[in-house]
Amino acid sequence: MTTEPALSAVPALNRAGQLEMYRRATRVMPGGTDSNFRAWGEDTIYVDRGQGGLVWDVDGNEFVDLRMGYGPVILGHGDPRVDDYVNERMRKGVSFSLTSEDEVRTIELICELTGWVDQARMTVSGTEATMHAMRIARAYTGRNKIVKFEGQYHGVHDYALISVGPDDMSELGDADNPVRLTWGRGIPEQVADTIIPARYNNIEFLRRLFEREGDDIAAIIVEPVLGNAQGIMPEPGFHQAMRALTEEFGILLIFDEVKTGFRFARGGAAEFFGITPDLATYAKAMGNGYPAAAFGGRDEVMSVLPDHVSHGGTYAGNRVAAAAAVATLRILRDTDALASIHQVGRSLQAGLAEVISERGLPYVFTGHPAMFGIMFTEQAPTEYRDWANSDHDLYDAVAMGMHARGAMPEPDSREPWFICEAHAREDIVDRVVTIFADSLDAALEARAKGDMRGVEASQWSMAGAPASAGTPTA
Ligand SMILES: Cc1ncc(COP(=O)(O)O)c(C=O)c1O
Repeated sequence: MTTEPALSAVPALNRAGQLEMYRRATRVMPGGTDSNFRAWGEDTIYVDRGQGGLVWDVDGNEFVDLRMGYGPVILGHGDPRVDDYVNERMRKGVSFSLTSEDEVRTIELICELTGWVDQARMTVSGTEATMHAMRIARAYTGRNKIVKFEGQYHGVHDYALISVGPDDMSELGDADNPVRLTWGRGIPEQVADTIIPARYNNIEFLRRLFEREGDDIAAIIVEPVLGNAQGIMPEPGFHQAMRALTEEFGILLIFDEVKTGFRFARGGAAEFFGITPDLATYAKAMGNGYPAAAFGGRDEVMSVLPDHVSHGGTYAGNRVAAAAAVATLRILRDTDALASIHQVGRSLQAGLAEVISERGLPYVFTGHPAMFGIMFTEQAPTEYRDWANSDHDLYDAVAMGMHARGAMPEPDSREPWFICEAHAREDIVDRVVTIFADSLDAALEARAKGDMRGVEASQWSMAGAPASAGTPTA
């Protein structure tokens, strides 16, 4: 009797402890986690510890971490240069709702590294930072509306959850007249009505929009690259044209640098693309994983604070976050950490490119070597809607295979891989390339046999996302 050869063996991870924890957690936490984005059903990961570029789950499985907490851990987990400074500071007490020197140092460092921010304030999260930047823009201009791009994510406040990331592009509406697609229930229509979705890399769309309603548009908020769609890059001249157009119509330009800040360059994406925005938001890389964030901008725009706009927060600039920011930003300023991160990203891309080319598949790398995506497609994407045309089922299968083999990218092709300084250590790059090659082969073999098991993207990532509801913009 002959039997069909089994598909290339996928190593089975021990997940017994995590399954038990999932069942325990779901009794008291919706989805068993503190964030929809981590709610992966029975595949939900419960973490034990991280060190450098590695992470271990509570069952003891070891992974090369390519998520790095969705980007903040730019140096590596447990970096003693940051942790020791934080520990020293926190022994003096953590919460005073008074201002410490480390807060002042943090903002001085932001001003120095960006070269264009004159004034800034700390917040605890990127969500808060974008929320405050939008309010400042409205207060400064006296206008109500904010333009945001489809597929861009600016956090979980009501003004940000419009046209973020549906799987089905038809939910975004007609390309020339996109709908305001609220992500989940609970967002008042009146709030949604103040946000205008636009299409990234489409300057003509913006011009028409500004000519029609520019008088009531306070700002455009933009992730300089589509950080939540594989880091899709601007076409040459797009940011420059957008900067010129916003100036022409008296509209402020907000760079949401929560993912790109202090990662693309010391001065973030603004430096990388040679743009001077009016306002910017920072978080993630500024604190190597500690909850540090900030918003800031030009003197004149920020001058609406403190007298004319409300901003505060019991934990804003808290000692732990400020100490982490000082230590991290000093390292990024004074060492070649960023150059090393960029080099690791390039080496990794070279290895992956060889693997994919050998198998004759079309692909493009999106984003920057420090934060990049892999799209199986002939055509380089220019906006969120293009993601649908890539072979993301194949990517999802590869990502899940990588997880089983000991490397952890986000199991959704929309989220880029994040590189940290510690990925330069030992054989991490080679390890990831080998794991990627084995996972790609297994996924291709499964596809050839018509057995793409586990390719249920809905089970992963955007998974926890509630259903969307759209309202036409026009
Ligand atoms: C570009 C961007 N803006 C804002 C946010 C929200 O930041 P936080 O999760 O700290 O609230 C994120 C989070 O991923 C982000 O990527």
